[in-house]
Amino acid sequence: MRLSEDFMTELKSRIDISEIIGEYVDLQQKGKNLMGLCPFHSERTPSFCVYPANGSFYCFGCGAGGDVITFLRLVEHYDYIEAVKNLAERAGMDFEVSEEDNAIHQKKLLIYKINRDAAKFYHSSLLKECGKEALSYLKKRNVSLKTLKHFGLGYSPSTGYALVDYLKKIGYNSEDIILSDLAFKTRNGKEVDRFRNRLMFPIIDVKGNVIAFGARTMGKDMPKYINTSDTPVFKKSSNLFSLNFAKKSGKNEFILTEGYMDVISLYQAGFDNAVAGLGTALTVNQVKLLARNVDNVVVSYDSDLPGQKAANKAIEMLKDNGLEVKVLSIPKAKDPDEFLQTYGKDGAVKFKNLIENSKNDIEYKLSNVKSSYDLSSPNDKVKYITAACEILAKCRNSVEREIYAIKISEEANISKDSVMLQINKIIKKNRKKSEKIEFKDIQKTTSALNDNINPEKRNHLRAAIAEESLISYIINNPDVANTIFKSFSPEKMITGFNKRVIGVLKDIVSEGKTMDISTISQYGFSFEEIGRITRIMCSYKPSSGTLNTIEECLKVIEEENEKIKLKDVSSVSEQDVMEYIKNLKNK
Ligand code: CTP
Ligand code: MN
Repeated sequence: MRLSEDFMTELKSRIDISEIIGEYVDLQQKGKNLMGLCPFHSERTPSFCVYPANGSFYCFGCGAGGDVITFLRLVEHYDYIEAVKNLAERAGMDFEVSEEDNAIHQKKLLIYKINRDAAKFYHSSLLKECGKEALSYLKKRNVSLKTLKHFGLGYSPSTGYALVDYLKKIGYNSEDIILSDLAFKTRNGKEVDRFRNRLMFPIIDVKGNVIAFGARTMGKDMPKYINTSDTPVFKKSSNLFSLNFAKKSGKNEFILTEGYMDVISLYQAGFDNAVAGLGTALTVNQVKLLARNVDNVVVSYDSDLPGQKAANKAIEMLKDNGLEVKVLSIPKAKDPDEFLQTYGKDGAVKFKNLIENSKNDIEYKLSNVKSSYDLSSPNDKVKYITAACEILAKCRNSVEREIYAIKISEEANISKDSVMLQINKIIKKNRKKSEKIEFKDIQKTTSALNDNINPEKRNHLRAAIAEESLISYIINNPDVANTIFKSFSPEKMITGFNKRVIGVLKDIVSEGKTMDISTISQYGFSFEEIGRITRIMCSYKPSSGTLNTIEECLKVIEEENEKIKLKDVSSVSEQDVMEYIKNLKNK
C-alpha cells in the first residue's frame, strides 16, 4: 500500500463514510444501509447505496462505487493524495506521502505553477505594446482596467513562440509545457504556442489554482473561442468560469450565463455571483458543482433560439438536481453583456429588475408554450392545455401544480378539475415510463450481456456467479482467506476480471494487509472496476444466495473447469482421444 497500513486504518476508524457522503447526497436510512440520489448520474429514484459496515458505496444505476477515498476522487476530482489529505484534515491527522504518490501530486502542482506563470505572461502582454489592439478591443467593450485585472485577463501574442520561449527561459521543460496544453509539437519537433493572437480568460478553481484558459480570437481565426483541452488538472465538463469569484460572493444564488464576456460585464455592473459554462452544453457535473455551492440559479442564457433551447435543457437538469430555478428573458438584446451595454449606466438597475421579475421554471415554460398557440382557436386551445398539463405534470410540488392549474383553467375558461384530472393522468403515465427506464438502467449495469468489465461472464455465467460469491466471501471474511488460498489457486478462476481480483486478494493476504475496498483500490483498478468489486462485495451477502458455503463456490468453479476441459476434448481428434483413454486405463 502506498500509505502506511497503520495510518490508513487509523484514518478510516476516525472517518464515517455516511457523514462525508452525506455532505453531498441526501441520504435516507434503509435498514443497515443508506440510500440517496446518485451524485454521479441523473436519476429521480434513489439507486445510490452507502454501506457503513464495510465503508463503501455503490450506485446500482451507473455502477460507480468504492470507498470514501474513491468517492472524494470522483466527486471532487481529487487525485489520491488530495483525497487522503482532505480526510486526514477532517480527522486531525498529519501524514507523509510516498515517493510515487508524491510524483503524481507534484506534477499537478507543477502544472498549476506553469499555468499561473502563463497567466501572468498573458496578462502583462495585454498591457504591453503587442497587446495594444486587444486592450483597445476590451476598452471598446467597456471593460475597465480594474475589471480586467480582477479576472486576470490577458493576451497571447501572435508570433507563435512567445509563451513557450518565456516558460523555457524561466526553467520549465517543453514536456511539461505541452502537458499543460499551452503548447504543442509540430512535425519538425518544434514547440508552438497553443494560443496565438487571442484574448485570454484564465479559468480558476475554488482553491485559486489557474487550471485552464478560455481564448477569444482577436483576428479571423476560427473558432471564435477555444479552450485548454483536458489536462491532469482540468476537465472541461466539470468546471465553470468564475466559480472562484462567485463562491466568494457568499450568495446563495448564482447567475448562470453562456459566455465569459457576460460574466465579466455582469461583474462590472455589480453582479459578483455570475458563472459561465466552458463552451459546451451544461453537463451533469457542472450542475452538481452548482448544487454544491448554491440552492438557487438564475438561468441567463442568450435570447436567440439556440440559447432558448440550451436554457430549456439546463432548467431540466438544474431542477433534477434539486436547485430552485429562475429564468431571465433578456428583451432586445442577444445576451446579458449586450443588454448591459445597451443601457449603459442604467444597465445594472435594469438587469436587477429583470432578475426580480424573472419567471420560475414553470412560468417560463408555460409562457413559452402559450406564445406558440392562438387561444381563440378551439383547436389550439386544446393543444395548449395538453402542453401545459405536460409541463405541470413534471412539477413535483403539488401546491404549485394546483396554483398553475387554476391559472390555466381561468385562461382557457374550463374547470380546474378537468385540468387536474388531465395532469394526474400524465403523472401516472410518466411514473410508469420512468420506472421502466430506471429498471432498464439497473438491468444494464447488472446484466452479464453488456458486461464490458468482465466480458467473459456472459459465456460463463454459472462460473462467474460462483467466483463473485467467492470474492465477496473472502473480502467479508478475511480471517478465513488464508485457509482458502492454501488449497485454492487463482489460476482456477475462469473469467478474466474475477481471476485478476482473486489474484489481488491473494496478494493482500500474503502481504498481511487489511482486506478492504481501500486496499484493493491500490492495485491498479480503474474507477469502473473498483465500482464492480464494491458491488460484488456488497451484493453477495453471506448465506443469502444460492451458494451458501465456500465449499459450494469452490465446487462449482471446479465443475465449470471440468466442463471447459471436456469442451476442449470435443475438439480433439479421435486418435488423440483414444490415446487419452489408453493412458487413463494404464493409470
Ligand atoms: N464558445 C466556444 N466556442 C465557440 C463559440 C462560443 O467555446 N466557437 C463558448 C464560449 O465559452 C463563449 C460562449 O460559448 O463565451 C458563448 O458564445 P457566444 O455567445 O458566441 O459568445 P459571446 O460570449 O457572446 O462572445 P463575444 O461577446 O465575445 O462575441
Ligand atoms: Mn456576447
